[in-house]
Amino acid sequence: MLNLREFEAAARAVLDPAHADYFAGGAGDELTLRANEEAFARLRLLPRVLRGGGKQDLAVTLLGSRAALPILISPTAFHKLAHPEGELATARAAAAAGAIMIASMAATTSVGDIAAAARTGAPDGAPLWFQLYIQPDLEFTEILVRRAEEAGCEALVVTVDSPARGAHERDRRNGFTDLPDGLCCENLRDPRTGRVLPIVMSPEITWWHVDWLRRTTSLPLVLKGVLHPEDAGIALRHGVDGLLLSNHGGRQLDGVPATVELLPEIVAAVEGRIPVILDGGVRRGTDVAKALALGAAAVGVGRPVLWGLAVDGERGVGQVLELLREELDHTLTLLGVGGLPGLTPGHVRPAPAAGA
Ligand code: FNR
Repeated sequence: MLNLREFEAAARAVLDPAHADYFAGGAGDELTLRANEEAFARLRLLPRVLRGGGKQDLAVTLLGSRAALPILISPTAFHKLAHPEGELATARAAAAAGAIMIASMAATTSVGDIAAAARTGAPDGAPLWFQLYIQPDLEFTEILVRRAEEAGCEALVVTVDSPARGAHERDRRNGFTDLPDGLCCENLRDPRTGRVLPIVMSPEITWWHVDWLRRTTSLPLVLKGVLHPEDAGIALRHGVDGLLLSNHGGRQLDGVPATVELLPEIVAAVEGRIPVILDGGVRRGTDVAKALALGAAAVGVGRPVLWGLAVDGERGVGQVLELLREELDHTLTLLGVGGLPGLTPGHVRPAPAAGA
């Protein structure tokens, strides 16, 4: 496999078509889904020459978590639909690559087991973060937070773009409504009853809940899905430690801008006070370089990890991460940049408008 796009085609060959569509799909007309990749394609890179350089150091520290590369695994649900080893395989591959994995609350493996798998991938410790949808049942939300803390997660990523579930027509067409028998969202197991609860996406969650969470845990809090620059400012005032600029890979409100289009405004709004991570449509090392040049501290990838997992489990995820790492390294060299801090907005230009 030469690049991430080839993984998607190969994954489709082995996956149940309904599951492949569940992974690939977006909301509504999938305008935002397509926009994420198209927006990267419309940005051009402008290299500098004769600047020396040398071996690239791609390591970053994000909210205290040390990573070997500025590429995170964004939280995605149901890895066991892609491969029988599911999140365990993803976690081992992430740990071996030194990449931060954000475990989804909707994982088909418990966060404790994911953490244990990450430790086998990298005995010195592999950074694991936990993604949370705040549940209206705050007692249960607190149970989830404690589980993530006990598993050794180093940050909580609170997804705030889901006051309701996105409308996925592919899933409706395919009749994909639930996990097959034998699989469930292990993190949703309620110790009070032994039952597995459904994930509630509630329109009643407010900034009050963010304050509550801030008081409930000392873990760094990252808000995922803030798109409006004014909300980025509000997030700062509520003591949030980082933003994951994301439109949920085009799976929530269709018609919102591509994340990389919003990046300069969000970076300006936080005034360098907290890191901004971006996900959505990152498929090439050149995309990573574009996002970092425009001020992202790191990027996340969602679907490509699922394709790698489907194709070859742990090895497939490892290959996806290695391809991106290699491409980023090569891109920095060709840009005449000696390391991540050397990337600046001056390395990126918009393409001329069509017809201009
Ligand atoms: C997601 N995403 C997601 N986000 C989240 O906060 N919690 C979740 O459980 C999920 N689940 C999920 C499942 C699937 C199949 C996909 C494709 C995505 C969104 C994810 O974290 C991320 O924002 C996008 O996937 C990034 O876009 P790309 O890289 O897929 O283009």
